[in-house]
Parts: sequence; C-alpha cells; structure tokens
Amino acid sequence: MAKTAVLKIDDKEYPLPVMEGTEGEKAIDTRQLRTASGYIAYDQGYGNTGSCESQITYLDGDNGILRHRGYPIEQLANQSEFVETAWLVIYGSLPTQKQRKDFGQLLRQNSAVEMQMQKILEGFPTSASPMAMLSALVAALPAYYPDLATNNFEKDLKNFDLAAAIAISKIRTFVAMIYRYQKGLPFVFPKQELPFCDNFLHMMFSEPYKDYVPVPEVSRALNLLLLLHADHEQNCSTSTVRMVGSSQANVFASVSAGISALSGPLHGGANMAVMQMLQSIHDEHDDGTRFIAAAKSGSKSNRLMGFGHAVYKNFDPRAKIIGEACDVVLKRLGIDDPLLAIAKNLEQAALKDDYFVSRKLYPNVDFYSGIIMRALGIPMNMFTTMFAIGRTPGWIANWREVAANPKGRIYRPRQIYVGPTKRDYVPISQRG
Ligand code: SDX
Repeated sequence: MAKTAVLKIDDKEYPLPVMEGTEGEKAIDTRQLRTASGYIAYDQGYGNTGSCESQITYLDGDNGILRHRGYPIEQLANQSEFVETAWLVIYGSLPTQKQRKDFGQLLRQNSAVEMQMQKILEGFPTSASPMAMLSALVAALPAYYPDLATNNFEKDLKNFDLAAAIAISKIRTFVAMIYRYQKGLPFVFPKQELPFCDNFLHMMFSEPYKDYVPVPEVSRALNLLLLLHADHEQNCSTSTVRMVGSSQANVFASVSAGISALSGPLHGGANMAVMQMLQSIHDEHDDGTRFIAAAKSGSKSNRLMGFGHAVYKNFDPRAKIIGEACDVVLKRLGIDDPLLAIAKNLEQAALKDDYFVSRKLYPNVDFYSGIIMRALGIPMNMFTTMFAIGRTPGWIANWREVAANPKGRIYRPRQIYVGPTKRDYVPISQRG
C-alpha cells in the first residue's frame, strides 16, 4: 500500500503521495499540491527539494557516502580510471573490454579541434577567465556539429554517443588550448595514440622539439582527480545542465551553461580560492588563525574555502582520497609544498573549533585538489577548468536523463511574489 502524507491547512486535509528511492530516501510528491490546495511549496535554493528521479549518483551526506551507479567512490578511485568511470556514469554499467576500447578510440578520434575554433579563443584577451573562454568554445560546438545538436531530443539522442565523446574529448583539448593561449605558446596538437590524460598533459606541456612524457604517478594522479569530479548528484552546475536541457536545448549548449555555473567561487571556483587562501597564509607567515577567525564571522566573503558542503555534513569522501593522494604524488615528484603542511594544520585547527564542528563543516573536494594540480604544473587560474573536464561525464549523463525521460517537462519553478501590489502608471510630466 503506497504511503501518503497528509497536509492540513485550516480545516481541509490534502493527501500527498510519498516516494521512496532505492536507497530509502523519502520524498513527499507535491506535484499536485498547487492544483489541489492553491499552495506551492517554498524552498529557497532547493536544499530540501528533489527536482528529479535519477539513477546516476547516490550521496549520503550524513555518512559521507558517494556512489556512481551503485559503485562506491573509494573502489572506483582505487581500481578504475577516468575514462572507464565516465562510461559508467553515462551508460550505467562498467564497460566491457570492447566497450572500453571503442570508447577510448572514439575519444582519441575526436581529440582535435577545428582550426577555425582557435579564432574564438583569439577573440579573448589573454587575461580573460579560462572558464569564460571554455564556456564560449563549448557553446560554439553546435555550429560545427549541427547534426548532433538539433535541439530535438529524438534526433539528438540518436547521435548522443558521438556528441558525448566530442564533448568529453574536446573540452579536455580546449583547456590545454586555453592554457597555451594565455601563455602565448603555440598550440600543441593531440596525439591519437596517447591515452586521455597523457594526451592532455602532452597538449599542455610539450614543446616543439621536446614531448612531455609524464611519469606514471602523474598520469595516475590526473586520472584520480578527474575521476573524483565525474559526477555529484544535483549540484549547482549539474542542476543547471538539467534546467537548460529541459527546454530541449542540445547537450553542448546545456554543458556550456553548466560551465558558467561551475565558475562561481562557492562551487567549482573554490579550488582556486583555497590555494589563494593557503598562499596568503604562507606569505603572511600566519598559522591560519587569522583566516579561521575571519571565517567564523559568518560573512560569505570570509569563508574557509574548501570547507563545508551543501550536502555532506560529514567528511566529503573525495577530500579524504585526494588528501591521501597528495602525500604520494608530492613524495614521488620530490616536491615539498609548504601549502600542504598549511592545509593540514588548517584542517586540524578547524576540526577542533566548535564553530566548524557545530556546523558540521568538513573539508570538501576542493580543499586538497589544488595542491595536486599545482604539483602537476597546472596554474591556479586553470584549476576550475580541470574540474570542468572531470564533471563533463556527469553533466552529459544528467542531460541524457532529461532528454530520454518520456514524461519529462520543462523545468519551470514557481515563486512567491513580494514586490509592489497593483498601482497605476503616472506620466513623467507628473512625477516632478
Ligand atoms: C563544491 O553541491 C555539490 O555537490 C558541490 C560539489 C560538487 O562536486 O559539485 O561538491 C563541489 O562546490 C564543493 C563546495 C566548494 N565551496 C567551498 O568550499 C566554498 C566554501 N563553502 C561554503 O561557502 C559553503 O559551505 C557551501 C556553499 C559549500 C555550502 O553552503 P550551504 O550549505 O548553503 O551552507 P550555509 O551557507 O547555509 O552555511 C551554514 C552555516 C552558516 O553559518 P550560520 O549562518 O549558521 O551561523 O555554516 C557557515 C555559514 O556561515 N559556513 C561556513 C562555511 N560554509 C558554511 N563558515 C565558514 N566557512 C565555510 N566554508
């Protein structure tokens, strides 16, 4: 017998169906609430509202659980790699050996970028935000692949596999191009024989007469970083992709919107903000006390970046994994980064401070990721674009759920209007 909740308003009762997911999450289905009662539910920021049913990622914020299609992030981090996890997130199962081989081939075949697209980049000053450049390049993809981006779900789903490979592979290439453009360096063309991450590092760091060949630990560290960013339920940027996709906008346009949402410092921009914070602490020979004191002021602009999470009220499992990887990668590369020690001290100090403990503020995925990216030679202003490379499979998988949903509707939230009530127009001659 399906459970129902009963909402009582004045002397009337409104039965509302209760939904339950495969992991026991429960929701009150309010889809008929307004029709039945004239009331809407109000939840600023949607922190207590489910926008969709999804089969991609399960999060348990209280217990620090993250699973993609049922597989725990710890197992994927230890045994999988980015391209395989991308397939899993998008298609719902671990690929067979043939599927993994074919997917890797499709990504390699689509790693190059049309020469004309370089002109889009050259239209930006080199000081432009890498995320703005990335969003613009991705928004331009439908112009080059009109058959994959018709803004018709039926047609675009038929060509989804190629569109997905193009988005994942070219966003990786775009990031390397943006880096070279900002540095005033010539673009390095992809090598089809290289695996995904090695090809990225080649396009970033190879020189005309000297190819960059990463040591295995660097390739593994980059794979791990991208894998840990692959998807994360209905975060701000993924919800943006679903919102835009719900209008039948194509996957490239939807992902471009997701990139813009990710660029904010409260979301994907936090990895850069963490490093700026750690660098300031280092430069001021501070021990973090000043930052922790400022963070406790409660103002959004003084927050301890890389701490806290809208869902995790326990450790972000990704932060634990990245934190452990920091030690391994820096040791293998013989790097002694003072910012790592500062980050660890800051974490210990915050976790003993009641302000953070009482608010259940723990390190999140961004707290340590910048340390590894810096060790890989990636400049700070490119950190959020790295997050975008990693998150592209999750964005694409969510777009596909929206496009393939036969009962799907355009996302159109309601509001409570609190502006001026009805008033009559006054001609300007009478306004003084
Ligand atoms: C990502 O959603 C996702 O899944 C995102 C992400 C993903 O993979 O897609 O996990 C990636 O975006 C990680 C988060 C990166 N952002 C940061 O590290 C920026 C710093 N963190 C915060 O701004 C904040 O914690 C958020 C934005 C992450 C979450 O904000 P919430 O859930 O809206 O929390 P809140 O603003 O309601 O704060 C609750 C309380 C407040 O204090 P009181 O008003 O109760 O006194 O906690 C305080 C806040 O002031 N607080 C912090 C804090 N984060 C929250 N105080 C100091 N430092 C912080 N970092």
